[in-house]
Amino acid sequence: MSLREVARLGRLTRAASQLALLRAGLASGAFAALAEPKSADELAEALAAPPDLCGALLRAAHASGFASRRGGRYQRSALLDWLCDSPEGDAARAMLDQAALSYAPALDRLPALLGGAPRPSWGEEQEVARTARASRLLEGRALAALDRVPGVRRARRVLDVGCGEGTMLAALLSHYRDALGFGVERAPAVAERARRRLVAAQVHRRAEIWVGDVLRQELPAGEWDLALLNQVLHYCSEAEREALFARLLGRLSAGGVLAIQTPVLPEGALARITGIAATAALFDLFLHCHGTLSGLPDPTDLQVRLRAAGFARVGSVSIVPGGSLRYVWAQRG
Ligand SMILES: C[S@@+](CC[C@H](N)C(=O)[O-])C[C@H]1O[C@@H](n2cnc3c(N)ncnc32)[C@H](O)[C@@H]1O
Repeated sequence: MSLREVARLGRLTRAASQLALLRAGLASGAFAALAEPKSADELAEALAAPPDLCGALLRAAHASGFASRRGGRYQRSALLDWLCDSPEGDAARAMLDQAALSYAPALDRLPALLGGAPRPSWGEEQEVARTARASRLLEGRALAALDRVPGVRRARRVLDVGCGEGTMLAALLSHYRDALGFGVERAPAVAERARRRLVAAQVHRRAEIWVGDVLRQELPAGEWDLALLNQVLHYCSEAEREALFARLLGRLSAGGVLAIQTPVLPEGALARITGIAATAALFDLFLHCHGTLSGLPDPTDLQVRLRAAGFARVGSVSIVPGGSLRYVWAQRG
């Protein structure tokens, strides 16, 4: 028996249990209660919960680095402060939920899929809502990256294809105060939430949401300076992507730009050491586990395809260091 392998196995099983502990501590209110130091008995009283369970939870949280201990009292860590109370906390909690409720069950189905079982569709309402919440975690970085895409700063008419719950469109219109926005979303319930989001962000007077399938229905009239495909590419097959690129190119103004936000499979030792390569490859595997989704693109191949579709210039801008999430852009001549 190799102790190294046993330790590695321990890290893996521990991570799965720690994810469950984090979600349980958040859902039960235990971690909210630990904003102030508490003993097990004090936590039990605050939650009206069994003291032995609270004691064990606190010991597990402490041993996992989620809480510090002074005397007999425990207080939550900076990570839990961030998850519970920061502006990004909701998006970060949605990411935890996605790992537990979307990714793990999809991979559990892998043996059956490998045996030829049909791949399920993706897009159940709660999953869509969770994805929209989680995507807000990188919204600020995505907007900063978009600023560096040629032509975006002077864009006045913005088409957000597959706008989902409208979070990015609302953020974009808040950021570019002169821009007019048009979101296209094929799921009517999601489109309705996008309308509400635009109202909440007070940008609804400069925006409209259209319910329709961008692959099958004529796009709303008008020429666009910026067309966005934010996390939408993996909803389209290879053939659909080519048709979509041609269609969007035909509707861009001269010098207008298509900006495609997508994760990619990063190469190289650094990506492997930091775990980014594994995160991206696991997400790609999750996509392949569904009949209605396609795998992550190769960024170079994507740029070649955009050129072939008739775009004059192409390039890419990293959203996160290392570029595992980026905007691949293509500008009309
Ligand atoms: C992962 S969400 C991304 C939402 C949003 N763009 C964002 O970044 O938060 C993808 C959205 O694209 C929509 N969608 C996918 N294919 C579409 C199509 N052919 N026409 C219109 N909407 C589409 C889906 O319904 C879903 O709400």
